[in-house]
Amino acid sequence: MRKPFVAGNWKMNTDSHSGVELAEHIASGSLEIVGRKVTIAVCPPFIYLGPVINALRSSNIALGAQDMYFESNGAFTGEISVSMLKDIGCTYVLCGHSERRHVIGETDELINKKVAAAVSGGLLPILCVGELLAEREASQTEQVVTRQMKNGLAGLSAEKVLAVTVAYEPVWAIGTGRTATPQQAQQVHDFIRRLLAEMYDDKAAEQIRILYGGSAKPGNAAELMGQQDIDGVLVGGASLKADDFLAIIKAAV
Ligand code: 13P
Repeated sequence: MRKPFVAGNWKMNTDSHSGVELAEHIASGSLEIVGRKVTIAVCPPFIYLGPVINALRSSNIALGAQDMYFESNGAFTGEISVSMLKDIGCTYVLCGHSERRHVIGETDELINKKVAAAVSGGLLPILCVGELLAEREASQTEQVVTRQMKNGLAGLSAEKVLAVTVAYEPVWAIGTGRTATPQQAQQVHDFIRRLLAEMYDDKAAEQIRILYGGSAKPGNAAELMGQQDIDGVLVGGASLKADDFLAIIKAAV
């Protein structure tokens, strides 16, 4: 049985005051929700990871980073390594978020290096995949997701891949208010799970959690997570409102 997973991606939002306040609110509000039943994580901007982990100290909420660099140290101005993220208290890291792919220009090859470095350094990567609207309309969803999965996980053994969480985030549903229907999302999640079985084995397909992301909110979270292959949600906008994020966590229990 896969444990539900609700993660909040704060993106480039909050500040030192509001980030801590949001984390405190989520931490206190989630105490009554049995944390052992749901994996909960928040991914604040890099510079607020320290203050946010302090605010989460006595909670069941894990810390995640929104990105990382694959090299361990050295002359990589502006970048953050796996060991730095571990040092500050991160457990998870997003790799290949659609905004990094399509706004910043990250390639499958770079994302693969990040996933591999995260796993070998002891961070749990959340590999984000998903098609653009034009790709969906051209019936290329499965082709795009297959490429992102195969390239993103290239070189990872069947044992190491168990450290990975996959997030299916159709780009056309991100920040648009246009959610994939639970049936549309389930169809792709089922495809990704079968792909994992084909790329690895049944164990990987059964154990790896596949989250949905794209305008997830309190009103649609339960139905999305009620689908057989949707193991949780990666939440953007609604994770910036503590009450909404808490309602989504409750929907996962
Ligand atoms: P929204 O929930 O704002 O659509 O963002 C989804 C997302 O990109 C999470 O990583």
